[in-house]
Amino acid sequence: MPDGSPSQPTVSVASVVVLAAGAGTRMRSALPKVLHELAGQPLLWHCLRTAAGLDPQDLVAVVGHGREQVGGWVQRTHPDVRLAVQDQQLGTGHAVVCAFPDDIPTGTVVVVSGDTPLLRPETLQLLVRSHQGAGNAVTVLTARLPDPTGYGRIVRGPDGAFRRIVEHKDSSDEQLAIDEINSGVYAFDGAVLAAMLPRLNRENSQGELYLTDVVGLSAGDGLPIGAVAADDHLETAGINDRVQLSDLARELNRRLVRQAQLGGVTVQDPSTTWLHADVVVAQDVVLRPNTSLEYGTVVESGAVIGPDTTLSNCTVAAGATVLRSHCDGAEIGPSATVGPYTHLRSGTVLHEGAKTGAYVETKNAVIGKGSKVPHLSYVGDAEIGPRSNIGAGVITANYDGATKSRTVIGERSFVGTNSTLVAPVTLGPGSFVAAGSTIIADVDPGDLAVARSRQRAVTGWVLRRRPGSPAAEVAQAALDTAAAAESGEDNR
Ligand code: UD1
Ligand code: CA
Repeated sequence: MPDGSPSQPTVSVASVVVLAAGAGTRMRSALPKVLHELAGQPLLWHCLRTAAGLDPQDLVAVVGHGREQVGGWVQRTHPDVRLAVQDQQLGTGHAVVCAFPDDIPTGTVVVVSGDTPLLRPETLQLLVRSHQGAGNAVTVLTARLPDPTGYGRIVRGPDGAFRRIVEHKDSSDEQLAIDEINSGVYAFDGAVLAAMLPRLNRENSQGELYLTDVVGLSAGDGLPIGAVAADDHLETAGINDRVQLSDLARELNRRLVRQAQLGGVTVQDPSTTWLHADVVVAQDVVLRPNTSLEYGTVVESGAVIGPDTTLSNCTVAAGATVLRSHCDGAEIGPSATVGPYTHLRSGTVLHEGAKTGAYVETKNAVIGKGSKVPHLSYVGDAEIGPRSNIGAGVITANYDGATKSRTVIGERSFVGTNSTLVAPVTLGPGSFVAAGSTIIADVDPGDLAVARSRQRAVTGWVLRRRPGSPAAEVAQAALDTAAAAESGEDNR
């Protein structure tokens, strides 16, 4: 099949029906099959996106099994999609009957399965163009598969003409040998569909109303039917079990990674790099092994991500680096550095050149331009001005068990290691906090706050309380040496 060229006129489609009511028994799952995810989105999301690519006058999803969950998801995420309900799953033909509680429109009606996620809108366009060009009653998208097990087979007459579809379970040994399959994607003449659906019967191994029988009935009436073969058989692959789910998830990922590479992204290890369908990665980004970019993540040019990093719903500005880290809902500014081993949580904003280092967790925190939180800290509900330094082990105590409070740290401040800042608290610009302090009151600009007990020495404690111990021995030796040196100096 040749590639669709954008110069060809767009087709006009009356309705696209997405079948999503089946039980999905082979998934063995409490979650309805069409809500299982691939590249970060439910199967149904992918199918609805492809269906919407035809820009139909009517886009309907048929739900039934798990209808609360599936229907609820459709309403939340696709308010423009019409929902139809198939109460009992009596087969794909019955599902299409349920799609049209009112009259079936007379134009072209396209039907796709909700479990065929790699199908592209371009392929649907070609199917419809071929269907309308030939003036067919029905046109089926087919594919030749290395292993056609489970699919309906395309049965042709001695003259090679397409006659009907026979389901795997209803096939003879001879038919099982046919490698041309029904993808479950069809273009119908709406008037023919309306005439044929009432003629379907349940005389088959599954006792179902098969949509596929519309083909045989049409051919029997001498109406023109067509089969359009997809070039890429994976595009028509359906998901029935979790093995197929992971196989197609890997394949879709391979395609997304390849697309990123062709767009100028360096992907060091495509086999361990995972991209969700809606991420945007700019030219000259480097993705190191074991990197996952999820849900709405945007990475700008020159950023280096990974290895061993997951970014979900993050924006990463130009030239930033994120090394061995997990970030969710964070905004990472230009040339900022994150990691290794950093956990940035939602509401984190790193301004230009800011740094968060090893074993640092942040939440709802703004880290000012050039400011550093390099080691072992928790910074939550906080705002740090530009060019401040937060020492190792500093903690913002933002939660008193009931409410959360904010910590504000001004520009060019210095917080000594292992300090606890008990919120709400404000450190003024240019203020210092001595190491090991517990800060419970605001610090004025330029002040040094020391909030720890003064050091006291208990002289000779080891010699008195641990006489004869190794510690006492080395202490005594050091004291003797010091005393000898002092008397030597006195004698000079
Ligand atoms: C179907 C086709 C088969 C084709 C294959 C392609 C029929 C009879 N068979 O088989 O020829 O090769 O798809 O993947 O159509 N569904 C409903 N209501 C129902 C039954 C199914 O909405 O009562 C939906 C399912 O949710 C699914 C789609 O229809 O999205 C296909 O159903 P499924 O049971 O997966 O059909 P297959 O056995 O794969
Ligand atoms: Ca299927």
